[in-house]
Amino acid sequence: MNTFIFKVTFLIISVSIISTYALPLRPVVGVLAQGSSSSTKKYGASYIAASYIKYLESAGARVVPILVNQTDEYYNNIFKSLNGILFPGGGSDIIDVSHIGYSGAAHILYHLGLEANKQGDFFPLWGICLGFEELMVQTAGEDVLKEGIKASNISFPVQLEQGYEQSRLLNANTTPPSIIKTLSTVNSTLNSHNMALTPTNFTRFTALSSFFQVLSTNVDLNGVRFISTVEAYDYPFYGTQWHPEKNAFEWKVNSCHAKECVELMQYMANFFVEEARKSQHQFSSPDEMAKHLIYNYDPVNLSQTSNAFEQAYFFP
Ligand SMILES: *[C@@H]1O[C@H](CO)[C@@H](O)[C@H](O)[C@H]1NC(C)=O
Ligand SMILES: *[C@@H]1O[C@H](CO)[C@@H](O)[C@H](O)[C@H]1NC(C)=O
Ligand SMILES: *[C@@H]1O[C@H](CO)[C@@H](O)[C@H](O)[C@H]1NC(C)=O
Ligand SMILES: *[C@@H]1O[C@H](CO)[C@@H](O)[C@H](O)[C@H]1NC(C)=O
Ligand SMILES: *[C@@H]1O[C@H](CO)[C@@H](O)[C@H](O)[C@H]1NC(C)=O
Repeated sequence: MNTFIFKVTFLIISVSIISTYALPLRPVVGVLAQGSSSSTKKYGASYIAASYIKYLESAGARVVPILVNQTDEYYNNIFKSLNGILFPGGGSDIIDVSHIGYSGAAHILYHLGLEANKQGDFFPLWGICLGFEELMVQTAGEDVLKEGIKASNISFPVQLEQGYEQSRLLNANTTPPSIIKTLSTVNSTLNSHNMALTPTNFTRFTALSSFFQVLSTNVDLNGVRFISTVEAYDYPFYGTQWHPEKNAFEWKVNSCHAKECVELMQYMANFFVEEARKSQHQFSSPDEMAKHLIYNYDPVNLSQTSNAFEQAYFFP
């Protein structure tokens, strides 16, 4: 055998074995906390609804809560340790970055994510509902949202937009047709928002239209069209104005609990966690990771105190 070909083949095989082993197949994903409402403050100053934790766990990730009001050092360290970040829904301010609440922390983490990816350090972000809106505000660098949207506690099918088949998230070659069918024909996407990004503003703010591909839109109860699913062209950043996680894990809202709706949720969770498996970040030690994992906290039963969530995690 030609030794050169042999050596090259050997090199290629060893490189692919090494890179396979180097892949972090044990992903750890962060979820951003936010200030508690007046009725739940008694449990802790900030919270994360348990449905977001279960959503990521169901796809094979371990979860770390990312706290608000922390130092720059905390956010830099946690960012270097995680394989992806989810900005969840909720009711916090998403514009003001003068203090480190939800929007201030999201601002820091978004820019760390942007910089990392620019340097070839793969790092996925996903925004759901409020988190979607935050992703739009951070990308545009200003408020781009229309208020007075009527889409509260209601499930819709989405309208898929031109070119979705070529996207990563809903690619025609990798997305089961049953998922596309559920997404586009069943009341499978729970909406709960009074703000939204309209196609008008998406086009007007070129920082948005040059960054994101629109995969779907919807129309609210007043007939206002809004953008409901996006993915970034050149970054592993994704957003859904709707709530995939509620289809399996929340029962107080009008989410669809049919088998196909739960499968849609699972598809979205699997997609994001598989992106997280491509990130090379890790905690400095197993002990350091153990200190941060959600297992340090127990969820609180909110059956009497919330009209949105079954359970939530609270932080001091
Ligand atoms: C964060 O800090 C601000 C300003 O000190 C305070 O008003 C707010 O309650 C804090 N939020 C949380 C969740 O600790
Ligand atoms: C566009 O964004 C602005 C905020 O910058 C908002 O006031 C306005 O309602 C939005 N218009 C549309 C059509 O979305
Ligand atoms: C979806 O929900 C709307 C009400 O929001 C209802 O009119 C419609 O019949 C539902 N569609 C299906 C296929 O269940
Ligand atoms: C949401 O819709 C469900 C189902 O129709 C209803 O039981 C629940 O009370 C609604 N929640 C809110 C906060 O309106
Ligand atoms: C949660 O709250 C509900 C309603 O108050 C109650 O029936 C249930 O026993 C509680 N569960 C736990 C584990 O405390």
